[in-house]
Amino acid sequence: MKLGVALYLSVLTVNAQAPSSASWRKARLEALLQHMTLDEKLGQLNQYSAGEPTGPGTTRDSYDVMIAEGKIGSLLNVTNAKQADKYQRIAVEKSRLHIPLLFGLDVIHGFRTIFPINLGLSATWAPALIEKASRLAAEEAAAQGIRWTFSPMVDIARDARWGRISESAGEDPYLGSAIAKAYVRGYQGDRLDNPTSILACAKHFAGYGAAEGGREYNTTEISERSLRQTYLPPFHACVGAGAATLMAAFNSLNGVPATSNSFTLGEILRKEWRFNGFVVSDWDSIRETMAHGIANRPSIAAGKAFLAGLDMDMESGLYLSELPTLVQSGAVPMARINDSVRRILAAKLDLGLFENPYTQPNASIGPLPAQARQLARTLAEESFVLLKNQPYQGLPLLPLVGRSGQSIALVGALADSAQDMLGSWSAQGRTSDVTTLRAALAERAAQGKMLFRYARGVDSVGDDETGFEEALAIAKRADVVVMALGEKAQFTGEAASRAHLDLTEKQQKLLEAVVATGKPVVLVLFSGRPLTVTWAAQFVPAILEAWFPGVEAGPALVRTLFGDVNPSGHLTATFPRSVGQEPLYYNALATGRPVPAAVDLGKPPDSGSRFVSRYVDELNAPLFPFGYGLSYTTFTYSPLTLSREALSATALNSGRSSVTVRADLTNSGRRPGTEVAQCYIRLTGTSVARPVRELRGFQRVELAPGQTKHVEFTLGRDELSFWNIDMKYLAEPSFLQVWIASDSASGLPAAISITK
Ligand code: BGC
Repeated sequence: MKLGVALYLSVLTVNAQAPSSASWRKARLEALLQHMTLDEKLGQLNQYSAGEPTGPGTTRDSYDVMIAEGKIGSLLNVTNAKQADKYQRIAVEKSRLHIPLLFGLDVIHGFRTIFPINLGLSATWAPALIEKASRLAAEEAAAQGIRWTFSPMVDIARDARWGRISESAGEDPYLGSAIAKAYVRGYQGDRLDNPTSILACAKHFAGYGAAEGGREYNTTEISERSLRQTYLPPFHACVGAGAATLMAAFNSLNGVPATSNSFTLGEILRKEWRFNGFVVSDWDSIRETMAHGIANRPSIAAGKAFLAGLDMDMESGLYLSELPTLVQSGAVPMARINDSVRRILAAKLDLGLFENPYTQPNASIGPLPAQARQLARTLAEESFVLLKNQPYQGLPLLPLVGRSGQSIALVGALADSAQDMLGSWSAQGRTSDVTTLRAALAERAAQGKMLFRYARGVDSVGDDETGFEEALAIAKRADVVVMALGEKAQFTGEAASRAHLDLTEKQQKLLEAVVATGKPVVLVLFSGRPLTVTWAAQFVPAILEAWFPGVEAGPALVRTLFGDVNPSGHLTATFPRSVGQEPLYYNALATGRPVPAAVDLGKPPDSGSRFVSRYVDELNAPLFPFGYGLSYTTFTYSPLTLSREALSATALNSGRSSVTVRADLTNSGRRPGTEVAQCYIRLTGTSVARPVRELRGFQRVELAPGQTKHVEFTLGRDELSFWNIDMKYLAEPSFLQVWIASDSASGLPAAISITK
């Protein structure tokens, strides 16, 4: 105890002299390490959940004692300043070395101000806005003592059956990387010791999104080339952006659980990428390596994970119980323990936790400030994807303006469900902060002197048809019917994989019945994933994908439906026609027997040749492709021009050459609007097959009616390199096609040869 106090005081003295210099930091760290017992060191590597469990339950309750004994370095699921300060006081005032705790929480799409779910955020194609949202989330969380978020989730998700596609930025590694960096910048800010900054945690490393069959926690088989080409880039981008931590995934990757995978954690992360932050396990995932079958005893599970490169144990407690024996026997070198402790203490020092371990008193959360709501509304508005908008009485059905005196019927339980609007992982989000579609539409109707009627009609789960009659009755009396259908939030996110992607039978039945009344129907889809709304895409005149929009769900939707804002979201995950097409993603490799588009759009199986890569009972084409999204205006692209006639691989690889591709983009409609111009490439004649299209740039472009803007993208080494036959990341002599288009399935390419 005496030693602890002396060290604490000496540390404070040093602190007063040179609080931020690197050498001071190092000296302080080493001083602490020298005085730590093995148990205290292992305590730093140990994290327990002290709140609502976010995995299989925990029965522990002796945190106070363990913290005082220095056996816990971090707590998760503490959600407010009062709780955090209570535990922090024990750590700082009662433990021998006074090392502060680090509090971690899943702040996934907002802390108190809940933004759209992450898949929706990605549909904005607006990293700058996502950065603002994560900055606000950081400020709100940090005010409660939470200085670490388990976000961003940067798993590439190509299978809509997987529930966690909702937490992801979708299927594309280029867009995913841009968005991943934005989250990291937002959370961590310019400086970690700014009290409003929190540590980011890029998760789940790696390959989790490739779970076979889209089934949660399932195994993955990913070749090294696709791992590097598709799944790793967003993680690499996070490391490049300075992400302080990473989380290992639950899945096994090519037979080795990601939790104890020395190839991903050791070779790639530490050696190649030189990551110097720390890696945390996922919930109990060290123990789970026994269920995977690679360890028959807890000590083997702990030893394998630790030696593979996993620094902190979330929840299993096995580092604490097993590593002492492994260190004593020499199986785990003390130097490795010291390395892990150093990384964790360095993060605590970087955050300034030693100087400012406590939160400000009065950090209570009042009502949401107007600017927070405004930001949540903007993100929601920009996340909506207009999937269909057919004319009704000569005008596209949406927006619903200019049809004065009309009466509106709103049908569907999701229109009135604040809880569902928060989506999965809603941290400290409150249903009382949510304005639902029902509330907002009722208000707008009252202002516009429109008749408004609501009927629940149908729940998003269950077999109850008792609401059908009322729903049909109000539909028949209305000029337009808005139907809010889709998934419940609890059907999305972790442990929410689905084998069916349709609307439930009852929702579908009611939708068909309402459409059969002949009234124009606007379908507002709430979902955490692409749904197979194939019938609706044919028979419902207007469809707006709304995801789970967060606290401002209602106002954002009403402003969009009435045309105060023009939808500009574009899909970041392909919508299949049938679940049997999954995994379905745009950047696939070709086959030796590709299906000509004209044949694919014919009626299988009668047309076209038989022996091509296709289904006999379904098209290959998606329902809506990656990048797709309509607007209330229209956009046209001019033919493309290239800045040069030839490119050389040698010059590209030395970083000395590039080609710029240009197009004129015109708003050819009558409303102002924002287009997401997307640049895609295809390389052929390469040593390994490359995808039929790959995103290599994007730009949001605002255009007044009739306005034309010039858009251009430069393709150089970074854009044209890939993992070749020798597993070298290089540009190769090849033939390059380039598109600038509104989605991954449209546009006409320009082409250029890449010579030696
Ligand atoms: C999830 C992680 C999450 C952790 C802590 C796990 O079940 O896979 O994404 O961060 O729980 O809540």
